[in-house]
Amino acid sequence: MPTPTAWAAPLAIGPVTFFDARCANCHGALGKDYDPASPVHNDQAALVAKIREMVLAHGREDAAKFQPDDYKAQRTLHDALVERSPFVAITAHTWPNVGDLRGEAAGVQELELIIGPLRARAFVDDFQFVFTASTLAAMRQQVSDEEWLNAELVGIGPTQLRTRVLLRFGAFTGAR
Ligand code: HEC
Repeated sequence: MPTPTAWAAPLAIGPVTFFDARCANCHGALGKDYDPASPVHNDQAALVAKIREMVLAHGREDAAKFQPDDYKAQRTLHDALVERSPFVAITAHTWPNVGDLRGEAAGVQELELIIGPLRARAFVDDFQFVFTASTLAAMRQQVSDEEWLNAELVGIGPTQLRTRVLLRFGAFTGAR
């Protein structure tokens, strides 16, 4: 059973769309041509250095915008692609305030947002998904503060496998 991977920090760069635009031409769609024998896959320090080198070489104007969290997200995405495990990243959110909740995903077709007894769904389109502020505002009115802070996001894979990818915005610290 692959380990689901989630990234919760708001990011400057959408990690999956960036990979698709700047890395997939050489490493294949969603990294399918990554060389599994490469030693960097088992050496985190070498991997971080290689990703930084690749971003600086091939990232074009986005490379200048990369923050430390964007590098961490890129590394997390790399591990998910090599392991063929689902990846979900929140790229923007305003929790605990109401606002658009945006993210990117790989190996996930649909996201389910669970807040107390309520459920909302969003499809992944071109690696991106959004729960709009108006959807969230309607949900916010019907749930308690505690339910709101314990919102959960669940990724649903191609086989209807429900992968719990990211939990509890209340305890959200910006880390993985
Ligand atoms: C123009 C082709 C090209 C592009 C674009 C490219 N790479 Fe690479 N990448 C390579 C080659 C060739 C290697 C193997 C030689 C080396 O390590 O420098 C490599 C190696 C790697 C490795 C080590 C694992 C392995 O399979 O060898 C990682 C990780 C990696 N690239 C990540 C990225 C990321 C992330 C991006 C997008 C920012 C990217 N690459 C864009 C050509 C490319």
